[in-house]
Amino acid sequence: MLAYEIWPSDGASSLQDGADQLFLGDNLRVLDHLVDSQEGTVDLIYIDPPFATGVDRKYVNRSANRSEDVAYGDIWDGDLTDYLAFMQERLVRLHRLLKPDGSLFLHCDYRASPNLALMCDDIFGRGARRPGGTHPGFRNEIIWRYGLGGSSSRCYPHKHDIIFWYSRGETWKFKPPMVPATSQRMRGQLKKCPDVWDIPSLNNMAHERTGYPTQKPQALLERIIEAHTEPGDLVLDAFCGSGTTVAVAQRLGRRIIGVDQGPLSLHITRRRLLEQGLNRPLHISTLEPMEHPLASESSCFLGSSGDTEWTVRLDSSLVSDDESPELWAVDWSSTGECFCPDAHGRFAAMEQPEICWPNGLSGRTDARVRFYGRSGNVFERQVALDPHALAAPSLLEL
Ligand SMILES: C[S@@+](CC[C@H](N)C(=O)[O-])C[C@H]1O[C@@H](n2cnc3c(N)ncnc32)[C@H](O)[C@@H]1O
Repeated sequence: MLAYEIWPSDGASSLQDGADQLFLGDNLRVLDHLVDSQEGTVDLIYIDPPFATGVDRKYVNRSANRSEDVAYGDIWDGDLTDYLAFMQERLVRLHRLLKPDGSLFLHCDYRASPNLALMCDDIFGRGARRPGGTHPGFRNEIIWRYGLGGSSSRCYPHKHDIIFWYSRGETWKFKPPMVPATSQRMRGQLKKCPDVWDIPSLNNMAHERTGYPTQKPQALLERIIEAHTEPGDLVLDAFCGSGTTVAVAQRLGRRIIGVDQGPLSLHITRRRLLEQGLNRPLHISTLEPMEHPLASESSCFLGSSGDTEWTVRLDSSLVSDDESPELWAVDWSSTGECFCPDAHGRFAAMEQPEICWPNGLSGRTDARVRFYGRSGNVFERQVALDPHALAAPSLLEL
């Protein structure tokens, strides 16, 4: 596992101090790594894996007005053999990661829910399906009724997903959520939430929408996380997509582990976490060294030195629309392999992708600059910081 970024730079503390963790890579390998290092430590796992829909899921890159980019693939063989083998390998490892009173929430739909329920019964136990009801394993089948969606003249239109709740042990954390009562008798009062949840799915105008396909509403994750964890608990999402679970968990004061194999997912998740403000260090790791597209093309980066500050600009004419930079970060203090940003920010739409920082910082003669593109590409360049070697304040190619 390679340390890729640590935010912020003075958060280079060890993971024992409770840093949050994001991993880019196939979750099977990441879960093996986590089982080796953190077996039995996770309080809550929520996963929303591909549903075996048979189609590639596209990303709506709104700012670039394109929708063709594939965010992740969801095509499997017709009888689900490959899909179920894929899920089985991962569920076995997720089970081992849970604390004795930890819970798994598995989000799926009619395509694979019967097979996945049998699989989880085998791995976790039949739980409440057995007489007595307190055995480890199955606790609830939650129906998430989301309202939106298409219609059909051949069958009843699909308007719900299924979320299975399994506990690792015979005890589990549960603070029943309260929802408005609907009966006349209890009008205006709250009642304990039943196993059918009416939470609207995200419409196209929703403020929280990132454009990532199959993004789940924060309200859904808030309900699960608040009911099954306490502040400081550890929450894992091994298919984190746009980062809904980890963003909500972090906002609610829980520690997080997020995993996804898509660079676009990592980009959106990182952006969401930074936007709401980190409340503890964030470690990002990868399985493979990441390639930085423009690292060797010096003409894409332009730098200038003034009396008091340094400016670095990405030559946006060389970058396609859908890759246009969204975030920047600069690391002027770390000496190791890992990128540890000392400053970062977000570009407003159409803004010149340019960043500035004070001259002469910590006597260092170089810094690393990263620009994060909308499609998940990262542009990186090491820049020399010798103000005397440059004629201020002209623009030079770095
Ligand atoms: C349904 S989406 C998750 C959406 C997420 N719940 C959200 O709110 O945005 C499934 C995610 O699983 C990821 N994924 C699929 N196979 C994976 C694998 N083997 N390892 C890691 N991530 C994987 C995909 O890249 C995709 O982002």
